[in-house]
Amino acid sequence: MLSERRVAIIGAGVIGASIADALACRGVRVTMFDMRAPGAGASQASAGVLAPFIEAKPGSPLLALGVRSLAMWDGFMAGVRQRAPGSEVEYARTGTLDVALSAGERAHLKTAAVWLASEGVAHEWLEGQALTTRAPAVSSAAAGALCIPDHRIVNVTALVRALVHAARLSGVVCVTPTEILQVDQAKDTVEVRIGDERHLFDDVVIAAGSWTRRVRVSGAPVFPVRPIRGQLLHLRWSDGPRPAHSIWGSRCYTVPWSDGSVLVGATVEDVGFDERSTVAGVRELLDAVSDLLPSAAHASLEAVRVGLRPATLDHLPLLGPLTSHPRVVLAAGHYRNGILLAPLTADIVSRLMLEGERDPALEVTKPERFEAGPRYSAI
Ligand code: GLY
Repeated sequence: MLSERRVAIIGAGVIGASIADALACRGVRVTMFDMRAPGAGASQASAGVLAPFIEAKPGSPLLALGVRSLAMWDGFMAGVRQRAPGSEVEYARTGTLDVALSAGERAHLKTAAVWLASEGVAHEWLEGQALTTRAPAVSSAAAGALCIPDHRIVNVTALVRALVHAARLSGVVCVTPTEILQVDQAKDTVEVRIGDERHLFDDVVIAAGSWTRRVRVSGAPVFPVRPIRGQLLHLRWSDGPRPAHSIWGSRCYTVPWSDGSVLVGATVEDVGFDERSTVAGVRELLDAVSDLLPSAAHASLEAVRVGLRPATLDHLPLLGPLTSHPRVVLAAGHYRNGILLAPLTADIVSRLMLEGERDPALEVTKPERFEAGPRYSAI
């Protein structure tokens, strides 16, 4: 049954496009706006590793969200592939190998292994010849490695393209480049302003990554999202063993793609909206990957990619309706885990909008949770 509900989504990155696809395939009339091309913002900072047991602390709310979302990925990909026929999106359960290069790092990973065992999470400890056999690319100086087989990789650029394609086939109108800076809710309608034009919608989702803080909702405070730059390298192996897993060290991580390239991520830099790649950033990653995988020294450097991760003070997303403007829903600030959390975010937002169902996760992701405390300053 077709719904006449009209929803605007501000931001066509992985979060905005996932929500657009989820709503449109259920009959909602969606218009998606972005100030640039789809996927040109935070999605650029992601190497596409789905690794909640590395990214989140044991017992944290972020881990709970990440584990829930990881479990949704097979179904999410099946849906995207079905709705965007012909789209090639590499998605594989390659596992991660978290490598210790010092005694301190080994002790840290051993503690993590004990915790994973207590939680019943499949993992394996490798060292010596077993590590060399499994991952010949890893430095012979490695003091051990923790393998988590359920971690996965996904090609983010292809994923965003497929999501936008699927959304368009379901009727989503994609308006780019257009920056929405003002949103107002009046009773049951939300108005978005594009220059002098005003457009009315039933609901608005703000999913503009770091740029979310530029969108003003009358009467609401500035949204506390801060850009954190990530630089990534595209390498192409020529000599020596190439990594077959996503291999992590304390200073970088790597992602092997089936076309033979290897992505190396990522710097973490608090430099505002500066999207340049830098000599220092590239040098940091080249040094780190050469220590982790010595054969990287022979690889060719094909490209440098830069993106701005949208960070919040507690590294949880700002997800849910505004108390003062319930028809304005935030879905931003996913920081290092926007790709991982995309299926869960789209599911939570679409159930909220279509069924009025409040997922329990919304208690920890309330967009206004920082209002009484410290906040990132407005631009
Ligand atoms: N998710 C890894 C990163 O943001 O670098």
